[in-house]
Amino acid sequence: MGKNKLSKFAELNTYEHVVQISYKKLLAGEFRYKGKWAEAFFGNSNPVILELGCGKGEYTVKLASHFPEYNFIGLDIKGARMWVGATQAMELGLKNVGFLRTNIENIRLFFAAKEVSEIWLTFPDPQMKKTRKRMTATNFIESYRHIMVPDGIIHLKSDSNFMYCYTEAMVAENGFEMIRKTDDLYHSDLLDEVLSTQTYYERQWLDRGLSIKYLAFKLSHQIELREPDIEIEKDEYRSFGRQGKE
Ligand SMILES: C[S@@+](CC[C@H](N)C(=O)[O-])C[C@H]1O[C@@H](n2cnc3c(N)ncnc32)[C@H](O)[C@@H]1O
Repeated sequence: MGKNKLSKFAELNTYEHVVQISYKKLLAGEFRYKGKWAEAFFGNSNPVILELGCGKGEYTVKLASHFPEYNFIGLDIKGARMWVGATQAMELGLKNVGFLRTNIENIRLFFAAKEVSEIWLTFPDPQMKKTRKRMTATNFIESYRHIMVPDGIIHLKSDSNFMYCYTEAMVAENGFEMIRKTDDLYHSDLLDEVLSTQTYYERQWLDRGLSIKYLAFKLSHQIELREPDIEIEKDEYRSFGRQGKE
């Protein structure tokens, strides 16, 4: 029988590679790993890569196994999901994996300027009605830009045509450099061992026959960010029960 949420939370508290800190404590003092994740948390000087909204952390674990010369941190607010990836990383003996339980909106409290080299966004809710909650909206990009090195790379994997088109428009509007993109990953030559890793949500969308989109772009620090002013067709299938569950 699977563990219940309470026992997962209890276990998570004992994991040395999982960071959870109350907002009150966070505001009371400087977070001890801010600006020092590589040296103080991982004990090396390797670049730091984040998976935001990591859920069960499939990408964090896969990327860490594949790229031992980088450090990976999966970030999510939901502890029971994170427990899955955190437990797996421990069982695999991975030393370049951490998990951080917090809201993405807080990332500037946890990471110093230019501390992060890449960000993965794996199946974020497209937030079709609320631009400011969308994980590639200008307010989020501004935070990412702050904590990222110049030319830092953002990867987005999504079932959502809306999220894909919106992010494409964001990249174009702000003159970011698109590195790779496909609106049908599993029928494209971009598919490789890393990108064929399927997340929990991805498997559900694939079961429903949806094509998976992927894009990667480089941030530029120079310009003032602008929201794209375009109408994007909404994802019809999201009105049937899934939207709003997060
Ligand atoms: C649709 S799920 C995708 C999870 C996982 N990446 C996957 O593909 O299976 C979105 C995840 O983002 C997390 N999330 C959404 N908004 C968040 C926020 N503001 N801060 C932290 N996590 C958030 C949710 O808890 C959830 O685990």
